[in-house]
Amino acid sequence: MRLEGRTAIVTGGAVGIGRHYSHALAAEGAQVMIADIKDGTAVAEEIAAKYGRNSTASVQFDVSDETQCKAVVAKTLERFGKIDVLVNNAALYAPLAPVAVTDIDVDLWDKVMSVNVRGLFLMTKHVAPHMIARKYGKIINIGSGTAARGIPDFAHYVTSKGAVTSFTRAVSRELGQHGICVNTLAPGLTISGEQNADHLGQSRGPTIARRAIKRDQVPEDLTGTLVYLASKDSDFLTGQVLAVDGGSNNT
Ligand SMILES: NC(=O)c1ccc[n+]([C@@H]2O[C@H](COP(=O)([O-])OP(=O)(O)OC[C@H]3O[C@@H](n4cnc5c(N)ncnc54)[C@H](O)[C@@H]3O)[C@@H](O)[C@H]2O)c1
Repeated sequence: MRLEGRTAIVTGGAVGIGRHYSHALAAEGAQVMIADIKDGTAVAEEIAAKYGRNSTASVQFDVSDETQCKAVVAKTLERFGKIDVLVNNAALYAPLAPVAVTDIDVDLWDKVMSVNVRGLFLMTKHVAPHMIARKYGKIINIGSGTAARGIPDFAHYVTSKGAVTSFTRAVSRELGQHGICVNTLAPGLTISGEQNADHLGQSRGPTIARRAIKRDQVPEDLTGTLVYLASKDSDFLTGQVLAVDGGSNNT
């Protein structure tokens, strides 16, 4: 139990890869607040059935809205008393269809930035003061291998994930003095069951061909690294990008 006594917030923790993150943290003993725009009740019930009633709770919110982010932090503190780990996983990703940069609607561009970049900033802004007060914390920002390599027809998403890496580097320099580690976990293309079919169809074959380990990536490939970043084993690691992608990017 590497996370016994720890409390974590997982944004976007109700579906896709985030659901696996919620389970993995609870399996290591953490209390997990599942915060998602979708209803996380079912996942919370799955986790509670396995690890006990006090292991989890869920809240519905929009990560791009500051008032709602503050409310998630307040609810987590009210329910669990502290926040040790923040997993900034919520993003607009699976619903996105490939689109040429010349055809991206400005409203869609702004929406992607508001969820993927503003959301990450807002959660960090409102969680960090509690970590600073306790002189300890782990902020894990979910990036993407696409930020290092670039992929066509996803300029909005790839740009937002580039911002995740830069945000991580900048904020790690501010929060290190308070005992807080800030890192990016950058998955490769991961079969989540939720992705846009055109995107998956275009990307799956070439991605496997580019990897050193030539197979599909699944959410379970990411949870070990997530737990490591959330645990005291990584207390001297900060500002880094850990690419978990079967050896696709050598960054
Ligand atoms: N699946 C992949 O191949 C892959 C690869 C690299 C990085 N990632 C990243 O991993 C993370 C999870 O990916 P996924 O495949 O599960 O994607 P997904 O789109 O299925 O899940 C995103 C999660 O964020 C939530 N969400 C979306 N908008 C929100 C909002 N406004 N407020 C709160 N929650 C919101 C969704 O409900 C969902 O739970 C994302 O950050 C994604 O960019 C995924």
